[in-house]
Amino acid sequence: MELSGKIAVVTGASSGIGAATARLLAQKGTRVVLLARREDKLAQVRGDILTQGGQADGYPVDLTNAAAVAFVGRSILAEIGPPDVLINNAGAGRWLTVAETPPEEAVQMMAAPYFAAFNATHAFLPAMLARNSGHILNVTSVASYAGWPGATGYIAARWAMRGFTLGLRADLHHTRIGVTLFAAGKVETPYFARNPGSEERIPGLSRIVPTLSAAQAAAAIVRAVQREQREVIVPPMAAVFVQLHKFLPGVIDRLLIRTGWQE
Ligand SMILES: NC(=O)c1ccc[n+]([C@@H]2O[C@H](COP(=O)([O-])OP(=O)(O)OC[C@H]3O[C@@H](n4cnc5c(N)ncnc54)[C@H](OP(=O)(O)O)[C@@H]3O)[C@@H](O)[C@H]2O)c1
Repeated sequence: MELSGKIAVVTGASSGIGAATARLLAQKGTRVVLLARREDKLAQVRGDILTQGGQADGYPVDLTNAAAVAFVGRSILAEIGPPDVLINNAGAGRWLTVAETPPEEAVQMMAAPYFAAFNATHAFLPAMLARNSGHILNVTSVASYAGWPGATGYIAARWAMRGFTLGLRADLHHTRIGVTLFAAGKVETPYFARNPGSEERIPGLSRIVPTLSAAQAAAAIVRAVQREQREVIVPPMAAVFVQLHKFLPGVIDRLLIRTGWQE
């Protein structure tokens, strides 16, 4: 897809991967619509984009609140128009075992990223379908291909993102709307500072996989939309592990457990 002159909605655009993706899309000439809860951070990202000559609008919203997303979605459709691109990136969640997770927190973990992606897609898909064009990219983690100790709710929510993507793509098979599953290994963002106790639980095995900057993740996301790729796993070493896990699940699972968090 040619991105210049298009409209892209980016969720979780106040920080990390989402903010970097919004900035890069704006550099490509895309008008970006920034969604997240923190108004001041959205204003900062928007301000940077405008200073650089790009086009951006910020709409503060809690994406886990279906009614609020529907309301904001209607405002965006009326004020800006239907998006050509939807990047479902908003997400959070501490890495905890079931025993460590209060049930209310388990609900929140599923709410963002999964329900956030559902709500945003629900808000914009009808308008995209009416034009029968566009692209939806869902951001998840390599956690959606395997499992490791000490992060049950996080892993479940990332698998939900993968399942949602596969189901959505199947639903849209008769349309001209493309769907990308984007899975990353570790990315340098405020995520781990905002979800304390999680970074320490990354399995030692993943030290072989280089950490990406948010800008590198954003570049891969933008490329995936331009090329309308079905599935992207970054960095390449993470993709190698996902392939190995397909053929040798027992071996990779044992390595993840052996090098993973111990109670
Ligand atoms: N960092 C990594 O190593 C890594 C690796 C693979 C995948 N990912 C995934 O990438 C996604 C983005 O993470 P990141 O690393 O960029 O983290 P981040 O810097 O913490 O950014 C998370 C973004 O999601 C938004 N968000 C969270 N809950 C929200 C809600 N209820 N409503 C609206 N916005 C919400 C946050 O904005 P507000 O707080 O302002 O609402 C923020 O903009 C996550 O789903 C994460 O799992 C991250």
